[in-house]
Amino acid sequence: MKVALLGCGTVGAEVVRLLHEHERDLTARIGAPLELVGVAVRRAGRTRDLPIDPALFTTDALGLVKRDDVDVVVEVVGGIEPARTWLLEALRGGKSVVTANKALLGEDGATLHKAAAEAGVDLYYEASVAGAIPLLRPLRDSLHGDRITRVTGIVNGTTNFILSSMDATGAGFAEALEEATALGYAEADPTADVEGFDAAAKAAILASMAFHTRVTAADVHREGITEVTAADVASAKAMGCTIKLLCIATKLDDAVSVRVHPAMIPRTHPLAGVGDAFNAVFVEAEAAGQLMFYGRGAGGAPTASAVLGDLVAVSRNRLAGTHAASESAYADLPVRPIGDA
Ligand code: HSE
Repeated sequence: MKVALLGCGTVGAEVVRLLHEHERDLTARIGAPLELVGVAVRRAGRTRDLPIDPALFTTDALGLVKRDDVDVVVEVVGGIEPARTWLLEALRGGKSVVTANKALLGEDGATLHKAAAEAGVDLYYEASVAGAIPLLRPLRDSLHGDRITRVTGIVNGTTNFILSSMDATGAGFAEALEEATALGYAEADPTADVEGFDAAAKAAILASMAFHTRVTAADVHREGITEVTAADVASAKAMGCTIKLLCIATKLDDAVSVRVHPAMIPRTHPLAGVGDAFNAVFVEAEAAGQLMFYGRGAGGAPTASAVLGDLVAVSRNRLAGTHAASESAYADLPVRPIGDA
């Protein structure tokens, strides 16, 4: 299986490292070796200290994606463009795709799914939501015989760290954000996290997967945590509650409701104990009842773990001459921002 890697930042470097370190296990699990045939990077020269031939690095991502010998394209660059162009080129050229790109899936998953279905290849993106936590494939596969009624999640680690810190120390938002930045949780520009854009993209992906429909990030009612004050947190505490930035996706009779906003939850709720920068997703299904998925939602190694899991799955499918069922055939239910209690 010949693999092209697009992006070699924190996640990409871990993918390279794990491919090398787990080589024998991966070969045994797939039934064929995975061979890294190229790594696309933005700038030549910044190749990190990785266990691969430096000649594999290229700044020509599109050229790499177009190579006839590539079987699987792994994208860990993020953002809408040029990632969309590269991945559509890959899918239309018959390559399987593994991506961690939440922004792209949240904005334009439908176009990618259509291209994958038309080409008869896999499009897997477990790493796009909640990092290492196996979540999308359980929703798509294990719960496929059930009816999911609601998904409630803490899917942004940065804001969970900030809110947990405000809850623990009584600090205000600005102070907690400063701490998150100093510890390397928050990005230099934390807007996407603290304004809820990151969580909204993930909510769109989760709702689409759980309810077999198409929800985009723009459909999601979104409110971030910048207005949450120390007084709000103290009042919640006095009522036996804590404040979390939740994504809440609910199946209504003939529609879905998807929203992201800070919410007070009782300290007895399983999501209340999710501290630090952890993620957790609480799933309710008709027959299964309540399920909870918990773990690390960000970081190089946890995200690379999810990427590698997908890489094994799509490689096995490819060797078997098969691919996962198309999701582009699913119904388009209307999305209501607020529609349930
Ligand atoms: N900024 C994201 C977070 C990274 O804090 O959860 C993982 O998607």
